[in-house]
This record gives sequence, C-alpha cells and structure tokens, in this order.
Amino acid sequence: MTKTILATGGAGYIGSHICYELLAAGYQVVVLDDFSNSSAESIKRVARLTNGAPVLIKGDVRDAAILDHVFSENRIDAVIHLAGVKAVGESVQNPQKYYDINVSGSVNLFGSMQRHGVSNVVFSSSATVYGIPEISPLTEDMPANPLNPYGQTKLMVENILRDMTAANPHWRSLLLRYFNPVGAHASGQIGEDPNGIPDNLFPYIAMVANKKQPKLNVFGDDYDTADGTCIRDYIHVVDLARGHVKAVDYLLSDRATDNSAEMVNLGTDQGSSVFQVLKAWEAACGFEIPYRIAPRRAGDAPAYYADSRRAKALLGWQAEYDLARMCADHWHWQSKNPDGYGK
Ligand code: WQD
Repeated sequence: MTKTILATGGAGYIGSHICYELLAAGYQVVVLDDFSNSSAESIKRVARLTNGAPVLIKGDVRDAAILDHVFSENRIDAVIHLAGVKAVGESVQNPQKYYDINVSGSVNLFGSMQRHGVSNVVFSSSATVYGIPEISPLTEDMPANPLNPYGQTKLMVENILRDMTAANPHWRSLLLRYFNPVGAHASGQIGEDPNGIPDNLFPYIAMVANKKQPKLNVFGDDYDTADGTCIRDYIHVVDLARGHVKAVDYLLSDRATDNSAEMVNLGTDQGSSVFQVLKAWEAACGFEIPYRIAPRRAGDAPAYYADSRRAKALLGWQAEYDLARMCADHWHWQSKNPDGYGK
C-alpha cells in the first residue's frame, strides 16, 4: 500500500526537492507550509514534473488545531520536519522568534504525532550544531557546540526528539545533519528562492551572475587554509533530498529499531574553498564573477566537512554530484528563473 509522508516546510527550497524525490519514489506526499519563506508555486511545479498529486495545506506548525486536522484527515506514515527559520544573523537579533518557531513548533508537532499515533520522524538538523570544529572530517559522535540561537534550536530539537523517541512506544527518528545544501533540480523548474538579499554563498553568487548585485564579498582571505578562504562541504540539494527518501525507507523498514534516534550527517566528505566555488561558478556560467575581499564574517568557522560513513552504512546513501554539477544546476535554475517563483 502507498505510504504517505507529511513534509512540514515542504514548499521551501529543500522541501520541494524532497517532495519531488518522494513522489518519484512512489510515496504520497502531504505538505504543511505557511509560505513565510516559500511559495505554493514550487509544489505546483513538483506536481507537474512528477505527474503526482501532493496535498498542500497552508498552516503553521505552532497551530495545534491545524496539525490535528492534518493528522485526522490523512493517514500519515512518517513525518519529515523541515518547517523553521534559518537565518543565523537574525537568530542573534531575535532569538525569541527562533525558539518559538523552531522549538515550540517542533514540540507542538511531536505532541500532535503522539495524539494521532504517528511514530516515525525525520528531523532537518544542521552541521551548524558542531560549532567551530577543530578537526575534520566530522563524525556524529563529535561534541555539539552551537554558537548562535539558530544552532541552539537545532540541537534542542534533536535532544527533545531523542527523549520523546525513547519514551513513546514504537517511535523511531532520524536526525539528519545537513552540511551546505546548494544546487537545484536538473529541470531548472525548482530551486532556491530566498527572501531579499541572501546571506549564503551560492544564492549570493547567483545574484551577482544575474547582475542583481555588483560583486561577491569574499568574507576573509587570511584563514589558515590552502588559499586563505573558508572551506565547507557543499552538497547538491537533489542528493540531500534522496537522503530523505532513504531515511523514510529505513524508518518504515524492519532494519530500524523502535525507540532509536540516530544522528546522521549528510555531506559529500569533500571540502571546497570560497575561491574554488567561485572558479566552479565561472566555469558553469562561462563568464567572470566579480568579487572583492571583505573582512571576515563574525562566527565563521575556517574549515569543516563531513564524514558520511554512517549515512552509507545505515541508509545505503551517498552523495553523487560534484561541485561542477552543483554550480551548473544552480545557475540553470537561476538563469531560467531570475525572479525565483516571482512572488
Ligand atoms: C559559506 C562560505 C562564508 C557569503 C550557514 C549556516 C548554516 C546553514 C547554512 C542553514 C563561508 C563565505 C558567504 C558571501 C562569502 N544553515 N561567504 N561571501 O556559513 O557555512 O552556513 O548556512 O540553514 O547553519 O551557518 O554557509 O553559504 O553562508 O557561507 O565569502 O556573501 O562562504 O564566509 O565561508 P555557512 P554560507
């Protein structure tokens, strides 16, 4: 029988790619999204691309009545919980918003799952929980030390979910720690559509490539790395989305055990510097991306990348796409949709 997955925040950048891959793998999908940083258009396009019929419900995860409605109207087999806010700088300015949406929203969702007997959940966590790591690759047992309220909320929800999974009969959860998701679906139909001027490297470069910003600010070229710029583990959003399908497959199989909450890194195990990213972007678009060296950005870690062996062992998942493909697909989406979904 077809299994149904609820994706909270499913209309967003990562969520829309996950919905695509779930539908392509034969799952039915219910999306709950408040459209605060997303558009219903993404799910319309996912429906067209897959010939699927995802159910789209507008609502906030802090609203218990909406959640109870979603769980009573649909037989949900597993939840992928992506809904939340994610701007590091804003979380420092307005921590209450982050604790409210990310933490209270999650507690509310898990409470509703409990009431409706839904016991499988995949949580969208982040490598940001590791803080500023001294060594890489990062394994899941390395200490967590988030450095800002956004990172704190991710770690708090991991801990809440671990306790709830241990306490509730038949609960199973996976806490997926994403490295740096970038790129877009190969169709060029779905991709990242940030509100305003983005903070993150790929969407910012995309704006420069589209002549919407004059140049990229490279935040520091005096780090202790080979070329002086920071190193991150960029992962293609389609690889990341497929990791979620594998996660759901796993939770719904007899390979998973009740009352277990596993942390799993999703990365490529490769680090790329800001300059390497810039070069790969130039190769993808065929022209130069103007940049200047700017001061270091507060709170940036010099370098880190994943060890994803647990994802391979547990889920049978490993990233496939390289940096060239990430840039090519991101640029394909952004050049075809210079105004994103055009809200
Ligand atoms: C990557 C590199 C910058 C912009 C953040 C969050 C993390 C996760 C993803 C999720 C760094 C440099 C960037 C620019 C630059 N959040 N850079 N010029 O900081 O690794 O991770 O986003 O929701 O929690 O912390 O990603 O893309 O912002 O930066 O030079 O205009 O690019 O200094 O080295 P980051 P990023």
